[in-house]
Amino acid sequence: MEKEKFYITTPIYYTNNYLHIGHSYCTIAADTMARYKKLRGYDVKFLTGSDEHGQKIEEAAKQKGISPKEYVDHITEHMKELWKLLDINYDYYIRTTDEKHVKAVQKIFKALYDKGDIYKGHYEGLYCTPCETFFTESQLKDGKCPDCGREVHNVKEESYFFRLSKYQDALIKHIEENEDFISPASRKNEMINNFLKPGLEDLCVSRTSFKWGIPVTFDEGHVVYVWIDALSNYITALGYGSDDDSDFKKYWPADVHVVGKEIVRFHTIIWPAMLMALDLPLPKQIFGHGWLIIDGSKMSKSKGNVVDPKLLIDRYGVDAIRYFLLREVAFGQDGNFTNKALIERINFDLANDLGNLVSRTVGMVQKYFGDKLPLTQKEAPNVSEIIEFTKNVVIDTEKYMDKMQFSNALNEVWNLVRRLNKYIDETSPWVLAKDDSQKDLLANIMYVLAEGLRICAILISPAMPNTANSIFRQLCIEDASLKTWDSANEFGKMNKDVKVLKEDAIFPRIDIEKELQELEDIKQENINKAKENNQKEETKKDVECKEEIGFEDFLKMDFKMGKVLECEKIKKSNKLLKSKVKVGDKVLQIVSGIANHYSTEEMIGKKVVVLTNLKPAKLCGELSEGMILAASDDKNNLKLITVDDNDDIIEDGAEVK
Ligand code: MSP
Repeated sequence: MEKEKFYITTPIYYTNNYLHIGHSYCTIAADTMARYKKLRGYDVKFLTGSDEHGQKIEEAAKQKGISPKEYVDHITEHMKELWKLLDINYDYYIRTTDEKHVKAVQKIFKALYDKGDIYKGHYEGLYCTPCETFFTESQLKDGKCPDCGREVHNVKEESYFFRLSKYQDALIKHIEENEDFISPASRKNEMINNFLKPGLEDLCVSRTSFKWGIPVTFDEGHVVYVWIDALSNYITALGYGSDDDSDFKKYWPADVHVVGKEIVRFHTIIWPAMLMALDLPLPKQIFGHGWLIIDGSKMSKSKGNVVDPKLLIDRYGVDAIRYFLLREVAFGQDGNFTNKALIERINFDLANDLGNLVSRTVGMVQKYFGDKLPLTQKEAPNVSEIIEFTKNVVIDTEKYMDKMQFSNALNEVWNLVRRLNKYIDETSPWVLAKDDSQKDLLANIMYVLAEGLRICAILISPAMPNTANSIFRQLCIEDASLKTWDSANEFGKMNKDVKVLKEDAIFPRIDIEKELQELEDIKQENINKAKENNQKEETKKDVECKEEIGFEDFLKMDFKMGKVLECEKIKKSNKLLKSKVKVGDKVLQIVSGIANHYSTEEMIGKKVVVLTNLKPAKLCGELSEGMILAASDDKNNLKLITVDDNDDIIEDGAEVK
C-alpha cells in the first residue's frame, strides 16, 4: 500500500543575522513533527531553508565590504551547522538564491502578470527595511513599524502591484469554511478582524531602489518583492516551475506550514491569494506559534539578550534543549525563557525522573541478573494496571502529537515515567533480590520496567532522538520492529530475556546555584558587549552620515588661529562660556558649550582654532560670532583644538587649512 504523504515546512530564515534560540524553537518543533509522522509510517517531506534576498541583506553585505552572495553563503553555512547540532533532520534545504528557485519565481511572476493579477503602477508609502514590509499610515504604531518598532521611511517608486484585493472575499470564505486552516483559532480571528474585514489593498510586489533580488524578466531594473520570492519557496522546493515537478505533484498541498505569529499574516493572506491566482490548491494548515521571549521582551541582538543555542547545547546537550523548548511552552503561545526554568527541567524531569528510571532499571538488571534476564518469569504485581496505564498514555500522546501539542504530549510520557518510578518503589526489587525464591518474580518486575522504558523511548524519540537511542542501546534493542510507533501499543513485544548494557547517566545533575551564576555572568557580559557595540555603531553612524564635500566647499570655511583675551560664564547656563577672541586685527565674541571642561581662567590666553565666518547667532541671549573648535567623544570627553607650537611662532589671525 502506498504511504500517505505529509509535507511540513518551517519558514525560510533571513540571512542577515545569526540564528538564536527563538529561531531554533520553530525548527525543533517542525523537526519533531516530521520525525513523529515518519515514525507513524508517513512519506514525509520536511522543508527548511534560507531567505537570501532583500535590501537589508544588500546593506549588511555592503557594511562588511563583501558581495551579497558571499555574505549569504557564509550565514547559510552557519545555519546549516546549527541545524546539524540541533539534530534537525530536514529532507530538503532551499536557498532563494538557488537557480531552480530563481527561475521558478520569475515564471510565477510572469504568469501572474499575463493573467492580469500583476499590473504596473506607482508606489508611494512607508517601508520598514528590517521587516521588508510596506505599511499604511494607520498601521504604524507611534509612527514606527508595528512589527519591530523601528523607523519606517518614505519610498516612491514605479512598481508592480498584485491584485490582493480581488481575493479578499475568497480568502474570508476559505478561512471561515476550513476550521483548521489557521491554527490556533485565536490567530484566525485576528486575521479576519484586523486584516481581511477592514479591506485588503493591492500589494506592491516589485522594487527598483536596490538590486539584490530576483529580476523581473520583462522589466529591467525591477526585482521581485522579497515576500513573493520567499513564499514561493514552498512550491519551488518541490520543483514547481521546473522540468521535474514530480515532487510537487506528490507532496503539494502542504499539510502544515509552521510559522511564528508575526508572519501568520503573510502566510494566510498573501500566500493563499497567490496560490488562488495560480489556480493551485491551498496548504491545509498554517500553524502560528508564539514567541520565545526573554524577561518579558523579544530577543534582540542590540539588547544583547539573545540566547545562543550553541552555548546551551555545549553545556547541556541537544536533547535537553529540545525537551525544554517543547515541554516548557504550550506550542502556539508565547513563553518566557529563563535559565532557572531550563536548569530545573533538566534536573527534575530529565536527571531525576527519566534519568533515574533508566539507570535504576538497567542498573538493577545488571546487578541482580548479570547482563540478561532469565526466560522463566513469574507474573509481577499490578502488571495489568501498568499495561492499561501505558496503553492510555500512548493514545493520549498520539492525540496531542497529532495536534502539535508537544508540551501535553511530553507531559503524558512523563506520567508514564513517573508511574514506572513509582512501580519500582512499590515493588522494592532490592528486598526481593535478597531472597532467591523471589528471583522469577523479580525478573518479571524488571521486564515490566524494561518494556515500559522501551515504550517511553519510542514516545520521546521524535522530540529527543539521542536519548531514545541511548535507551535502546542500554536495553540492547536492535530489532527495528521494537522501535516503531505501532509497537508502543504492544506491551510485551520484547523477548523476556532482556539484555542490558549500562551507559553513563544521560542527564547528569546540575548544581543549580553555581550554574545560574555562570549563566548570569555570561548574560551580563553579552549585554555589556552589545552596549559597547551599540555605542560604536552610533559613533560610526555620526561619522558616516555626513555627506562628502568638494574642495570648494572646504574653502568656503574660514578657519583662523585666535587668542582668548577674556572669558566669563554665562549666568543663565551651566554649559556656556563667553570668550573674547582676538583673530588678527578683529576681536570676536564667541559662545561655546565647554564650561564643564574648561574654567574661565584656563581659557584666558589659550590659542584656539576658530571658524570665523559662521553666521552670527544668539545663544542664551548672547551674540556668538564664530566657533571655537574642539574634539569630543561619546564618553563626554572634550579637548580644545590647538596647534603644535611650543615656540609660540604662530600668531593669532594665521590661517588654518
Ligand atoms: N524570512 C522570513 C520568513 C519567510 S517564510 C516564506 C522570516 N524570517 S526570520 O528569520 O525572521 O524568522 C523565521 C522564524 O523564526 C519565524 O517564524 C519567526 O517567528 C521565528 N522566530 C524568530 N524569533 C523568534 C522568537 N524569539 N521566538 C519564536 N520564534 C521566533 O520571518
